[in-house]
Amino acid sequence: MQSKHYYITTPIYYPSGKFHVGHCYCTVIADTIARYKRLRGYDVFFMTGTDEHGQKIERKSKEVNKTPKEYVDDIVKDTKQLWDDLGIKYDKYIRTTDEEHVKCVQKIFEILYKKGDIYKSEYEGLYCTPCESFWTESQLVNGKCPDCGRDVELVKEESYFFRLSKYQEKLLKFYEENPEFLEPISRKNELINNFFKKGLEDLCVSRVGVKWGIEVPFDKKHTIYVWIDALSNYISGLGYLSDKSKIKEYWPADLHLVGKEIFRFHAMIWPALLMALELPIPKKIFGHGWLVVDGNKISKSFGNYKDPRVYIKATSRDALRYFLLHEVVLGQDGNFSEELFLEKSNSDLSNDLGNLVSRVTAMVCKYNDGVIKKCNQTEAYDYELINVASKTVENVENLMDDLKINEALTQIWNLIDKSNKYIDLSMPWILAKEGKFDRLNTVLYNLVECIRIIGISLQPYMVDVPSKIFDQIGVSDDITTWESSKEFGLLKDGTVVKKKENLFPRVDIKEEIKKMNQEVEENKNIQVEENQKELITIDELDKVELKIGQILDIEKIEKSKKLYKLTVDLGKEKRTIVSGLVPYYTENELINKKVVVVTNLKPVKLCGVESNGMILASGDKDVVKILSVDNSDIVENGSNIH
Ligand code: ME8
Ligand code: MG
Repeated sequence: MQSKHYYITTPIYYPSGKFHVGHCYCTVIADTIARYKRLRGYDVFFMTGTDEHGQKIERKSKEVNKTPKEYVDDIVKDTKQLWDDLGIKYDKYIRTTDEEHVKCVQKIFEILYKKGDIYKSEYEGLYCTPCESFWTESQLVNGKCPDCGRDVELVKEESYFFRLSKYQEKLLKFYEENPEFLEPISRKNELINNFFKKGLEDLCVSRVGVKWGIEVPFDKKHTIYVWIDALSNYISGLGYLSDKSKIKEYWPADLHLVGKEIFRFHAMIWPALLMALELPIPKKIFGHGWLVVDGNKISKSFGNYKDPRVYIKATSRDALRYFLLHEVVLGQDGNFSEELFLEKSNSDLSNDLGNLVSRVTAMVCKYNDGVIKKCNQTEAYDYELINVASKTVENVENLMDDLKINEALTQIWNLIDKSNKYIDLSMPWILAKEGKFDRLNTVLYNLVECIRIIGISLQPYMVDVPSKIFDQIGVSDDITTWESSKEFGLLKDGTVVKKKENLFPRVDIKEEIKKMNQEVEENKNIQVEENQKELITIDELDKVELKIGQILDIEKIEKSKKLYKLTVDLGKEKRTIVSGLVPYYTENELINKKVVVVTNLKPVKLCGVESNGMILASGDKDVVKILSVDNSDIVENGSNIH
């Protein structure tokens, strides 16, 4: 029989800092689906990895006096350890610095160039380095990158372009003919409305200024940048264009799981590239939502870093996996907080699941020396439980096939719930007291049988608990297979169970949060130590020119809700500076203020106005205050700041 293949991927993450619980989220989901498919008999290829080129990595590595390769090597080592800690069972870890990947990308570039799908031209645009994205002026928010809110730089250079525009109609047709290709549907509609209606533009696919990247094979001053390099991983990882190609077996991919912020690249650029290469298009691209804290995306650079290891240490990896899989509806954003995580661990895991297993095994030990007897003294209400149990895995399958992971877990918890209620209803302790041993044994048998089914059905989601359960209830391998969970009553007469500690010991939430906060503080200290390497010298500081300037004139910029056009007196000269202060200051509050100005910033055009400098301010979204000099008569305009 030909085995069924299943190829699933996560994004390849930027190794530009330690990975947080958001990266774990996507990887745990992909791992769970991979495990589920393996249990269903598929020959699964699950790939994750890292996207290691680009200016940001180059800069970061310089900050810590490492070569880019040394820098990413360290993070990759740490990441692989993290995936082990979380029980992630990938089949391949791809790095874009792998020789095989580099060669493959170069070949792809050459093929597309020869075909005329890549051509040379000139690019001018506003570039956000951390996001590795070019933006048009109208896309900027408050003059800054619309994705991360940071400054953009004006970049003009010779570049190679991919003829994305050529594929516009083909893409639309493909979406139409393959309604399951893009999910959730809402993101697909958003994409069509926001990008296709305006018409697709060709995509800049090389840079001259970035050394840390894959060279364009026929034009060595260019490096291939971002999307061709990154997206190709999904086929280079299968050995595309090499002797060891697994393309035949696994391509097209069944599922590319990606975060919603990179959904559009996967939905447009990737299929267009594949069309150009004449390769089949993946079956599905799913854009999942974000883990958020107080409404903000958990992110490497926003200072709300959440260290997954702290949570694993406080509970267990299975508790963290459960939380990530159950609390967030795939496709939507979900809240993350320590309290919520620990509460769920106590309620769903210690109380519901842990107590069920420990109560039942304790009763079998107490009333029957740990031995299960098959007695068949069944009562009518037993069938309610038996029916739920025998249908659980079938329901789980249907939901998993629809990627409704949290609902699948809810099905399992429904069985856990019913089992706990069954104990209350049947009251084994009374049966024991009254000497109704056949009935007692039947009840215990039914409960252990439910626990067997629960153990089996948890296998995609948890990595340690299922085998712990099997060990406690003493079941043999032949009745822990996925298929065996669909039949109630396979547990053998005479099976011996063991009583062990609760699978999920309860945690003292307040105490744990205190410990977690301490740990975060300690980590901060370590980071401070690490950051010491990032100190700059006085010469470097000297490069930044700061002066006192006085605001002489203010105009609102029509096209923008946030920007003022300010005329600033710097003593010897007057400058135009564009600043996003409209939400925070009225014109009256600003006029004549003496402020701190960075005077040697490269000019940028914001909403059509060239800005020559920056006014220093502090604060977050809600409150922003400019830095100003109070004794303003004494300090002259244009004074240097030392
Ligand atoms: O975008 N919640 O890499 P990246 C949920 N290298 N998921 C999150 C998350 C959060 N708060 N934060 C990150 C890149 N993720 C490119 C991808 S693919 C060819 C190239 C997950 O390090 C989510 O899956 O920014 C997101 O898409 C991914 O990490 C982005 O990782
Ligand atoms: Mg990102």
